[in-house]
Amino acid sequence: MCGIIGYTGQREASEVILEALRRLEYRGYDSAGIVIMNPELTLHKRKGELAEMQRTLPQINGHVGIGHTRWATCGKPSNENAHPFLDCHGRIALVHNGIIENYMALKEKLQNEGHVFTSQTDTEVIVHLIEKHDKGDLHQAVRAAVAEIKGTYAIACIEKGSGQIIAARKENPLVLGLGIDENFVASDVTAILSYTNRVKYVMDGETVVITPEKVTIYGPDGEMVERSSQTVTWSAEDAQKGGFPHFMLKEIFEEPQAIHNSLLGALDVIENGEILPNVQFGSIKIIACGTSYHAAMVGKYALEELAKIPVTVELASEYRYSPGAKEFPLVVLISQSGETADTLAAAREAKRRGCKTLGITNVIGSTITREVDEVFYTRAGPEIGVAATKTYLTQLIALYIIAIRIGYARRNLSHDAMWNELSKLRAMPGAVQSVLDKAFDVEAAVDMLVPARDVFYIGRNINYPTMLEGALKLKEISYIHAEGFAAGELKHGPLALLDSTTPVVAVALTKDHTYDKMMANISEVAARDSPVLAIGCEDDKELPQVADLVLRVPCVDPLYSPVVVTVVLQLIAYYVALKRGCSIDKPKNLAKSVTVE
Ligand code: M6R
Repeated sequence: MCGIIGYTGQREASEVILEALRRLEYRGYDSAGIVIMNPELTLHKRKGELAEMQRTLPQINGHVGIGHTRWATCGKPSNENAHPFLDCHGRIALVHNGIIENYMALKEKLQNEGHVFTSQTDTEVIVHLIEKHDKGDLHQAVRAAVAEIKGTYAIACIEKGSGQIIAARKENPLVLGLGIDENFVASDVTAILSYTNRVKYVMDGETVVITPEKVTIYGPDGEMVERSSQTVTWSAEDAQKGGFPHFMLKEIFEEPQAIHNSLLGALDVIENGEILPNVQFGSIKIIACGTSYHAAMVGKYALEELAKIPVTVELASEYRYSPGAKEFPLVVLISQSGETADTLAAAREAKRRGCKTLGITNVIGSTITREVDEVFYTRAGPEIGVAATKTYLTQLIALYIIAIRIGYARRNLSHDAMWNELSKLRAMPGAVQSVLDKAFDVEAAVDMLVPARDVFYIGRNINYPTMLEGALKLKEISYIHAEGFAAGELKHGPLALLDSTTPVVAVALTKDHTYDKMMANISEVAARDSPVLAIGCEDDKELPQVADLVLRVPCVDPLYSPVVVTVVLQLIAYYVALKRGCSIDKPKNLAKSVTVE
């Protein structure tokens, strides 16, 4: 959740760290801090957004430092609980992502030994543990300290008078950036892209010694690990707003390109079995959280239709603690970040139960890629806005490709039928672009939602999960209470809540076999005086007779319609949040990557 950066080299460390923290701010933003070695450790940290820390930051010169932007998990946001933390004598400074589960016991022990704590965080125990074990070799002290910790961590620490940074990782992302006479460590590659695109990923249990000249990785056994570097193809510019007022809008407008990129190589996947060369499984279980879970629900419809294989969908946070039946489905885990704690735990649990696992993620080298048997990468590019948009659409594309792959391999789809489905998918970037070309219509239409306290979203069949996703987007960034329902369920309870103050967003597509039923449901809600904002096909003449306003999408095959309908729903959420003056890219209480349970 939080962002970590460390720098050692020839530049002014404070400038590098502030620049990196600006790029990391989307990961956490309730406080921020920095320590520069010069040769004392000079610390500055503040509650609030990064701008507040930066505004109050005095000039600190020095070429080694660490910085942090925090999303609180243990101890409320405050100056005291902000990172970095110093040991009792101000000789060691540390930043941390993750959660230390046994911190209470460790803290009590350390306090009894004379260590004085200044915060309510779990993190602070780490710096005191390192201090306790420090016999003049910081790397060995860090190794001894992490051996006592139960929980998850990515840490970076520096010490007075030394040009080195020591880092360590367990179940939290950490990447090393390689420069010339300078090196970096960060929780996310976007932090360092302005300086270098040569990286090495740190693996679980490893520790690293970073100096301006080199990075040395050590395995859990203390042996040196050789690892070649990778080149990241994202540019720093890719991670900027590119003229849009918000990352979210930029990322929505990047969707045609993201879908196009994710379709590259689809034929190899489908025809040559580049993914799932062996399809000897009788059922599929898809596991994910949040928006990725909604993609999983859409995927169920696609897989059952195209591959005629039974599919169940489970929340990662539920699956990991479920009793587990005697079954061996293919388990598909979806996580755009590849770092969601519950999804990672579910991946481990699926393997423990003897299931084959396939991960779908957008982040190359993310933790999930090492937890699963096979990986399907979406190619959405970096997504900075907390609300998942383009990564969601590319998850849908990935699931359609996988459904066509399995359908073809199991001979449910002939060669011609497979080509036909693939060509429908290849039409998606154009269809999405035509929705984006009419974004102004959406901006005008949302006025009926802006003052609402509650909004219902209704759909049927494959667009039932689409509406769940639409509702999640609205509540996430506009703070309006929004609920998605299968339209057929309204009369089993939710209808009691409807009146003229509760607008309903409904989807009814002429080509869909549930069209007539949706029209009936829309009439039902209109009869309760609820204003209806409908999403319908370009050619539909009947929908305007039952809905107050209609937003049009291209008449694509209903199986693929979630792709275009979702874009309208994302734009609805965006413009409502904009008109309500909300913090769109950084909604309150949320973080981009949920690396805690
Ligand atoms: O990175 P993941 O796909 O695993 O993230 C899962 C959810 O935390 C995520 O989709 C969340 O619901 C988004 N903020 C929704 O926009």
